[in-house]
Formats: sequence, C-alpha cells, structure tokens
Amino acid sequence: MVFIAFEGGDGAGKSTQVAALARWLRARGREVVVTREPGGTELGVRIRELLLHGGEVAPRAEALLFAADRAQHVAAVVRPASERGAVVLTDRYVDSSIAYQGAGRDLRAAEVAQLSAWATGGLVPDLTVLLDVTPETGRARRHDRAEDRMETEAAEFHARVRAGFLGLAQAEPSRYLVLDAAEPPEALAEAVATRVARLLDDATNGEGGDRG
Ligand code: TMP
Repeated sequence: MVFIAFEGGDGAGKSTQVAALARWLRARGREVVVTREPGGTELGVRIRELLLHGGEVAPRAEALLFAADRAQHVAAVVRPASERGAVVLTDRYVDSSIAYQGAGRDLRAAEVAQLSAWATGGLVPDLTVLLDVTPETGRARRHDRAEDRMETEAAEFHARVRAGFLGLAQAEPSRYLVLDAAEPPEALAEAVATRVARLLDDATNGEGGDRG
C-alpha cells in the first residue's frame, strides 16, 4: 500500500497539490483515491458540518469529533482502497489534530496523538507532505471566501498550528517532505512528484518498511 498525507495551515494550497499529484500518478497508470479529513465519508460530511459551520465546540469535544471522523475515514475509505492496491492521497490526517487541537488549543499534544492513534488503529502515512505556510500568507490566500470556525481564529493560533506541524516534521524527517507553500504551485508539484517517484521505487523494490 502507498498512503500519502498532505498537511499544512489553512490557505497552504493542499488541494491544488493533491490534485496535481493525483494527475501525475494516474498518468503513470496508478489507481488513485483522493480523499480528505474531515469529510471523507458520508458520516464525516456531517461531522465536518458540525465542526466547521455549527456553533461553539468545546476543545475536547472538537478533538473527539475530528478523531471520530478519522476513525470512520480509515475504516471505510483508506484501508479498503489501500488493500486493493490504490495509492491513497488524503488532504489532512493525524498531524492536523496534533497541530490544531494539540498545539492550537490548550490540549496536550501527546494525548491528542494517542487519541488519533486509537482512532486509526495506528495507521501512519508512508509520506507526509507538509506545505508550510505563514499565518499571513494563509490568510491572504483565503481573502475571497467566507472563513470557517477554525480559519477565524487569531493569527497567534495559526502560528502555534504552524509550529506544531514543523515540530512533527522535525521529529521524523525521513517520513516528511517539507515545502515552502509560497513557492509557485508548479515547482511544488515537481518536488512532490520527485519524492513520490522515490517512494514508489522503494515500494516496488520491497523496501516499503524502510521509511528513508
Ligand atoms: P480544510 O478546510 O483544509 O478541509 O480543513 C478543515 C479545517 O479543520 C481546517 O481549519 C483544519 C481543521 N482541522 C482540525 O482542526 N483538526 C483536524 O484533525 C483536521 C483534520 C482538520
């Protein structure tokens, strides 16, 4: 199986990069499943609505709802697709909870990580692409559309989220590709494709267990 997660702050350009990588993989004959969190399943779409477009949600309830969305997503989409050999690309995964609920809110990152590990049965991506974006750039890129409940948080919140993501990548550099989201989309797509080509080669040569 090949499972790749895209992470980063709001306005990082994840969806564009997910779509570009999906095109690149399909052109090489791979089956690709593109999905996202929250909202990659029917149940998840409803959870997403509650989380992003409803009223206030207490931090612990927020963490549990994102984890519930993730548990359903892994069980209903990610594992079945991986098992039949598809490459799965997800727009956000566990790191988003550690960064937003762990670093952004006043919750312990280790506890949030544990909650997600339980929700996913310990499923870790083969590669996580982190599109690192400053709160200023992220906000500027979202100016033309209505903001959801997370996006309206203060710049300090988004700065903590950014630091949370970078901390995760620094702790496990071989499993991450960290890119500057301010680079042109074409350059980012090329960097992602180069890294993924290496990952696929490793998987083909039976080195899937070596995350280097
Ligand atoms: P999206 O707009 O990129 O789909 O993400 C939805 C929002 O939810 C975004 O502000 C990040 C946030 N989020 C969390 O706070 N925790 C999570 O675990 C996930 C997956 C998303």
